[in-house]
Amino acid sequence: MSNRKYYLTTPIYYVNAAPHIGHAYTTIAAETIARLKRMQGYDVVLTSGTDEHGTKVERAAKAKGKTPKEYADIISADFQSTWKKLELQIDRFQRTTNENHARIVNELFERCLANGYIYKGTYTGLYAVVSEAFVNDAKPGDLDPETGKPYEEVTEENYFFKLSAFTERLLEYYEANPNFIRPDFRKNEVVAFVKQGLVDLSITRTSITWGIPVNHDPKHVFYVWFDALTTYMSAVDGEGRWPADLHLIGKEILRFHAVFWPAFLMAAGWELPKEVFAHGWLLFENDKMSKTRGNIVRPAPISETMGVDALRYFLLREIVFGQDGSFSFDALVGRYNSDLANGLGNLASRTLSMIQQYRGGVVPDAECDAAIGEAVTGGTAAALDAYEKFEFSRALEAIWNIISVVDKFIVERAPWKLAKDPHAQRKLDETLLTSAEALRVVTALVSPALPHAAQAIWRQLGFNEPVAALRTDALAWGSALAGQKIAEIKGVFPRLDLKPTVEKMQELEIVEKNRQAEMMGVPKTAEVAAAPVYIDIDDFTRVDLRVGQVKSAEPVKGADKLLHLKVDIGEAEPRTIVAGIALAYKPEQLIGRKVVIVANLAPRKLRGITSQGMIVAASLEGGAPVLAAFLEDVPVGARLK
Ligand code: ME8
Ligand code: MG
Repeated sequence: MSNRKYYLTTPIYYVNAAPHIGHAYTTIAAETIARLKRMQGYDVVLTSGTDEHGTKVERAAKAKGKTPKEYADIISADFQSTWKKLELQIDRFQRTTNENHARIVNELFERCLANGYIYKGTYTGLYAVVSEAFVNDAKPGDLDPETGKPYEEVTEENYFFKLSAFTERLLEYYEANPNFIRPDFRKNEVVAFVKQGLVDLSITRTSITWGIPVNHDPKHVFYVWFDALTTYMSAVDGEGRWPADLHLIGKEILRFHAVFWPAFLMAAGWELPKEVFAHGWLLFENDKMSKTRGNIVRPAPISETMGVDALRYFLLREIVFGQDGSFSFDALVGRYNSDLANGLGNLASRTLSMIQQYRGGVVPDAECDAAIGEAVTGGTAAALDAYEKFEFSRALEAIWNIISVVDKFIVERAPWKLAKDPHAQRKLDETLLTSAEALRVVTALVSPALPHAAQAIWRQLGFNEPVAALRTDALAWGSALAGQKIAEIKGVFPRLDLKPTVEKMQELEIVEKNRQAEMMGVPKTAEVAAAPVYIDIDDFTRVDLRVGQVKSAEPVKGADKLLHLKVDIGEAEPRTIVAGIALAYKPEQLIGRKVVIVANLAPRKLRGITSQGMIVAASLEGGAPVLAAFLEDVPVGARLK
């Protein structure tokens, strides 16, 4: 194993929300970088985890009748199982409730204290009594929605971190390490923020119980960021991996990573991470995803429907990494069909099946086409350059340019014509070998982004070595494929019909949403419980609803809820209908009454009587049914549509 190490992290996610595609976005990007670095020969470790302390978690747990730890266990496990479902390789998963973590947070504190960067002071803030928490975003006089009274001003003893002492040192550090904060435009925001001057930070609380105790003064627990950021060290405790090479995060937590964290580390005399990269926000149909809007998308329904690489491809290709971007189900399926099914999938299946059909499944020995070789080599260099800068979209674009060049080459050469011409067999060999070699390079090149599809194609190309074990030398054009026996061909990206695919994902999303609501102990909102499953007008017109008139009504023996009705719906004979309305209507009330009948319901036997339809009534929870009726007079047999 190489001694060049690369250590990268995702944020540790709060356990007060269930995993969604925003979390998946960071984790997928990080996992792609991990694969890329492995391909470059680094010994890589990727960590993720969960952020589990604080009042919100304590309260949510209480509402579910659980301890905070029991509650956090459930949500943390859900993050882990989500990454499993997406087949993301996370090497270490660190939780803030792990024992080794508490030790390292205390060590950080004690070092900062010994170096004179921590002092005891008082913190005064507005306090919500019911929630037992300080509210950070309220002004004096604001009303607490839980009590209807103004928030109380409360003062408590806290330990403070002397962030103000680091203003100059941080600015110098950014200057000396221009790649510490990326992308550049975000670095400028951070520099501007620090230049305003930094204020000291309260890092402990006495008003919170669900947190890591401060050993130095056990009536205190650590407050959020001092606890959370330190997971980046405790995750690889004792492995000799610190400092991290990369913290990959969303833009909203850049300040904590690029200002607080390096200051804590400087104060402790520990090494700083090499790079913090903040990507943009993933929006749903251009809107911010939020619980109240009910537009949060979960990743598992997508991977179950379209495979794990479809979401990876969409997120990496569609969004310029660093900028905000938008997700929609239609765009996801659209990209899949145009780029994966028609692009990569089609190149693989046509190339492999021609080798199967014309050369019995053995890649022929010939010269490779030099122009294609140049195009592939140029495209590879462009893709690697873009990957290196985490410009995934540009990297994939460069790879897809190669695919389209090779597609064009195949169409121009028309192997199906060459195959019929005995004088063109050399040219056919050359065409097949060139296409196969291009497919080999493309597959290896795309493997950090689409590891599962790449593995499948790699296998079909006849390689036994896993694609994940490849190094960048495998990307060189012209490696000997000649004579290689290909394996059984199987389409990697079957075309998907837009509408049923989107509908299936949306249905699974509702199931997943309800499962998560149940797990978190939050009530299924009306929107969740009654999430619309739309039907077509055709679905509705299939139901034959008719106006009928009750001709006779009798009780059914032995069934006190049922009535046996004869209803005229404008046909030669009245229909026999058995209806569960006996507790609400007396037979004599019904004779002559106009009702609504479902006329094309399959006949069904009830108490020995065959019911030839259904009577329409409002069904009331815990109450008697109420028959549908008309205010105006309507003729018997009229259709409702
Ligand atoms: O902030 N678009 O946890 P968190 C893009 N525990 N990325 C998104 C996203 C979206 N719509 N939604 C979430 C915390 N993310 C702290 C972090 S780290 C020491 C502590 C991703 O659960 C993105 O990476 O709120 C973002 O920074 C992170 O999830 C926030 O996760
Ligand atoms: Mg957040």
